[in-house]
Amino acid sequence: MSNIYPIFDKMLSRADKEALLGQKGVMLWFTGLSGSGKSTVAIALERELHRRGRLCRILDGDNIRAGINANLGFTAEDRRENIRRIAEVSKLFVDTGIITIAAFISPTEEVRQMAAQIIGPEDFKEIFISTPLEECERRDVKGLYAKARRGEIPHFTGISAPFEAPANPALSLDTSRLSLEESVSALLRLLGIEE
Ligand code: ADX
Repeated sequence: MSNIYPIFDKMLSRADKEALLGQKGVMLWFTGLSGSGKSTVAIALERELHRRGRLCRILDGDNIRAGINANLGFTAEDRRENIRRIAEVSKLFVDTGIITIAAFISPTEEVRQMAAQIIGPEDFKEIFISTPLEECERRDVKGLYAKARRGEIPHFTGISAPFEAPANPALSLDTSRLSLEESVSALLRLLGIEE
């Protein structure tokens, strides 16, 4: 980092932003298979928090991969870079006092650990959307599992690339067993927000 002089110490602080917003920044890091319900739960949670006057920001796989990460694919190396950039961007939102919700497969302990280190472990809450592979494949909302089974998508998570379940998530939500409302309620409780 030669010739680079960060000026973070001169800018207004996170505490200033949190006081302005009347809330604390936090990272809710959703991990789970494609089709497990990450985006659906994230969107429902954001709506509920917004309704209660909390400012949120969702970062979601397909959106980010259409923009800032459009140059990345699905090799282990590209997934790592995908998550690294998302974690750096997420940190900016958390440091602005925003309830930041990331919905990415983030398939390995290693990439999730990296994200936690970048964002800061004290702000990082890992949410495992634990819907089983059979259910994700049965839903096959995007038709990708069928393609992956036909060998048309290389490195497809759960089929031809690994997914490591988190060992110690702050919360596990299986959307084949819980209603959307139940998942949102569990997340509100985790955030210490009254129902
Ligand atoms: S991650 O592994 O790098 O965290 P990310 O969440 O950004 O993945 O993107 C996953 C989305 O990309 C899936 O929901 C699916 O729509 C699409 N996708 C395309 N190819 C693959 C693949 N090989 N494996 C998993 N998802 C894929």
